[in-house]
Amino acid sequence: MKVIVGGSTSMVGTEIIRQALSHPDVTSVVGIGRRVIQPPPDLGPKADPSKFKSVALKDFENYPEDVKRELYDADAVIWTIGVNPAKLRSMTWEEACKVSRDFAVAAIKTIGPLPREGKTAPLRFICMSGEHAERDQTKRPFLMADYCLMRGDAENQILAYAANSNGTVEALISKAGVIQDPESSLFRKTGHLLIQAISRLGKIHVPVIAACLLDQALHGFEKDTLRNDDLNRIGHKALAKYGRGVAEKK
Ligand SMILES: NC(=O)c1ccc[n+]([C@@H]2O[C@H](COP(=O)([O-])OP(=O)(O)OC[C@H]3O[C@@H](n4cnc5c(N)ncnc54)[C@H](OP(=O)(O)O)[C@@H]3O)[C@@H](O)[C@H]2O)c1
Repeated sequence: MKVIVGGSTSMVGTEIIRQALSHPDVTSVVGIGRRVIQPPPDLGPKADPSKFKSVALKDFENYPEDVKRELYDADAVIWTIGVNPAKLRSMTWEEACKVSRDFAVAAIKTIGPLPREGKTAPLRFICMSGEHAERDQTKRPFLMADYCLMRGDAENQILAYAANSNGTVEALISKAGVIQDPESSLFRKTGHLLIQAISRLGKIHVPVIAACLLDQALHGFEKDTLRNDDLNRIGHKALAKYGRGVAEKK
């Protein structure tokens, strides 16, 4: 199966690509990012880096024809591009909305109608959002209201596109809490624990969420929205079956 990863350089996107290159059901992985990259390091013995193609985009709202051609015949898209709350201060609000909402919506609208020769199943489009993203635009969330509403608006637009696609596209929204890299420093882990305690968000490790999203991309969606508990449950099961596909540490 051919899987497109939007956000080839993101923390989660990198791990999805790493796992996909060792996965027996994946024949091709296209990573979309701001620059061309090499396959992730630490690939395991079963990995096939030749399955990977990195594609660079200048404008994430207008895909040139040569990029579109690389995205033909896809089975699934896993969209990981977005701005985490900690990075909001480094950009304008308009930019944060563009990256977190408009790029995802442009992706489903662009890739959704592309040719998919020989495919009978709908294109599976997975969009990463967050646990506190609010779809009800009449509500005023307690913490980071504008951000939570903007991410909820993105979820609404993605789900609406799929619902109106005459069965050509299915959408899944991943609503993770705090995503932790189990190999990160003690300092970062402590920071994550504090964020979790303040925001009361759930926790999931990077390999687990990556395994979950890859599993859903390859085998179909359990439902249209996966919350942190669902992501952990499906991800642990998939990891037990297929592993991470990483090299042994020396
Ligand atoms: N980390 C968490 O705890 C957490 C929790 C819940 C939900 N999420 C969401 O899950 C998704 C993946 O999270 P993550 O932590 O793996 O993300 P991340 O590591 O922060 O990566 C963000 C990605 O977005 C890309 N990006 C940022 N600004 C861009 C721009 N102007 N144009 C094009 N691409 C741009 C980055 O590309 P460059 O490398 O080129 O900058 C990178 O690929 C995000 O939507 C995030 O908000 C994260």
